[in-house]
Parts: sequence; structure tokens; C-alpha cells
Amino acid sequence: MTQGDSQAVISLRNIRKSFGGRTVLDGVNLDVRRGETMVIMGGSGSGKSTLLRLIIGSFPPDSGSIRLLGQEMVGLKRTALDDIRRRFGILFQSGALFNSMTLAENVALPIHEHTNLDREIIDIQVKIKLELVGLLEHADKYPAQISGGMKKRAGLARALALDPEILFYDEPSAGLDPVTSAQIDRLISDLTQKLGVTSVVVTHEMDSAFSIADRMAMFDSGRMLAVESREWFNTLRHTDEAHAEALPPDQRLIRQFLRGDAEGPITQRKHTDALARALFGDDVVISTPSIIPTRSA
Ligand SMILES: Nc1ncnc2c1ncn2[C@@H]1O[C@H](COP(=O)(O)OP(=O)(O)O)[C@@H](O)[C@H]1O
Ligand SMILES: [Mg+2]
Repeated sequence: MTQGDSQAVISLRNIRKSFGGRTVLDGVNLDVRRGETMVIMGGSGSGKSTLLRLIIGSFPPDSGSIRLLGQEMVGLKRTALDDIRRRFGILFQSGALFNSMTLAENVALPIHEHTNLDREIIDIQVKIKLELVGLLEHADKYPAQISGGMKKRAGLARALALDPEILFYDEPSAGLDPVTSAQIDRLISDLTQKLGVTSVVVTHEMDSAFSIADRMAMFDSGRMLAVESREWFNTLRHTDEAHAEALPPDQRLIRQFLRGDAEGPITQRKHTDALARALFGDDVVISTPSIIPTRSA
């Protein structure tokens, strides 16, 4: 990664974050370019949601810089933060719809909150957004009346309500069956193309990652191990056993993650961690394989 990518709409530099003395983000660097779909991958509990929440300004990092749409987010005042929040949409893991409101009302809510538009104009906006996600005919239903996949789509319509420049997705296909999950992936790709938005998608689901990504970032133990094109990751994923032996340690780890192999550097590390805990208890400071990134960050 070079210093300052001129096309970057998001730039993270040396982000650190600890919770109760436990380091979750340990010097994270990342550039996301305008119009691309960046997929951030990592095991569960690796800090992906924390990273997203930092980018959108939910809470500050302990140190480091976060530039979003040209604006430094760290130390930003409340009003400035509200202004920038209107320029991105978020689809969280749960979808987070209000159950007492219809889908149309859910989508209208952010427009009412952030604009002074007339009701008729808002109605049109809402219809356009629901149509984009294929839910126009269900506009008057309540969340309890629709399936999990439809709830995700409704959440997406709401994230689109204010015509965001960037869309953030946290595990968009979590809890969905494979077919519905593939439909959501298709929708994410379609929207990225149709609307020209920049998308940042956090996921641990490999099929989904490969079907939507332009570039991918592999995140592990609080660090970015690699930020590369989808093709780069695909080549690594399909590197055969004979050639895998010769790869640098971080690439072997990424390969295991991409393939979902039971054996490899990730599982060896887990065994070592588990043994350390069994011997010394939960408070033991695990210093293992800090897989040292061989790529310059
Ligand atoms: N607000 C918080 N307070 C304390 N610990 C937290 C908080 N948010 C996240 N964590 C911890 O940080 C780690 C990373 O969590 P998270 O970002 O949710 O991971 P992921 O999304 O990759 O599964 C976990 O160990 C989690 O328990
Ligand atoms: Mg998460």
C-alpha cells in the first residue's frame, strides 16, 4: 500500500484499538478507492465489526488516522460527524428494522430525519429505493410479515435512502440460506454498478467474498495481512499443496482461510493458544505466531 492513494475515499493509517487491555486492532492500514467493492475478510472475533464502527465514527480509535470522503474522522465534532454520516449508508448484521413500522416507513425515516422534503417527494424516493431492492410490492408490510432475506433487502433500501456515496455492509449474508445469500450478493453487485457507489463489505463467507469483490483485504490478529485484487486471492486460493509449502507464512495462513482447510497455520496457532490457556489460564498473554506480514503495509 502506498502513502495516500489519490482515488481513496477511505484511508486508514496505523489504527490501533484495545478493549480492556486486549488489542483488537494493531496498526491497521487500508485504502478504499472510489467505486470499488472492497471485501474485508477475517475470522469471527478478529475485529471486523470494530473496524467498521471506527470507520463510521461510532467511537474513536486509540490512535491513528481515519479519512473518510476527504474528512479526518478522528476528533471530529458532533455536527460535522452528522454531516458526513448522511453521505454513507450502513447495513448491519441484524438489518435493524423498526418492527412497528412498515417497510416504506422504515425507508422514509432517515429521509424525514435528515431533509425537509415534502411528503410526496419522500414517497417517491421511498418507492424508488424499494424498487431497487425488489420490494416495492411489499411496501406496506411489517418486518414480522417478511422473510430474513427480505428484511436484509429492506435494510438495504433504508441504507440507500439518502443516496449514499459509500455503503458499508457487516456480514450481509449472515443467517441466510445459500440461495437467498447468493441473491443478496447479486443485489450488492448490481447496486454498486447501477449507483456507482463505493462498497465496503465485511464477511467471513468465501463464496460471497469472491462473487462481489474487486479487491479484498485479509485481516488477522488485528493486522491487514494483504490488500490485493480478487484475482490475486483467487490464485492463492487455488495454489496446490506442493507449491503452498514454499509460500511465505502469511500467505499460507490466508490460503488456509480462503480454502477453509482444517489443517494449516491457523489451526496450529489455535492449538498452541489452547494449550497455553490450559496450562496458564485465561489471563495468559498469547504471543503466538504473530504472523509477520511480509508485504509492506
Ligand atoms: N465494545 C466492546 N467492548 C469490549 N470488547 C469488545 C467491544 N467490541 C468488540 N469487542 C471485542 O473485540 C473483539 C473483536 O470483535 P468484533 O469486532 O465484533 O469481531 P468480528 O466482527 O470480526 O467478529 C472481540 O473479542 C470482541 O469481544
Ligand atoms: Mg462482526
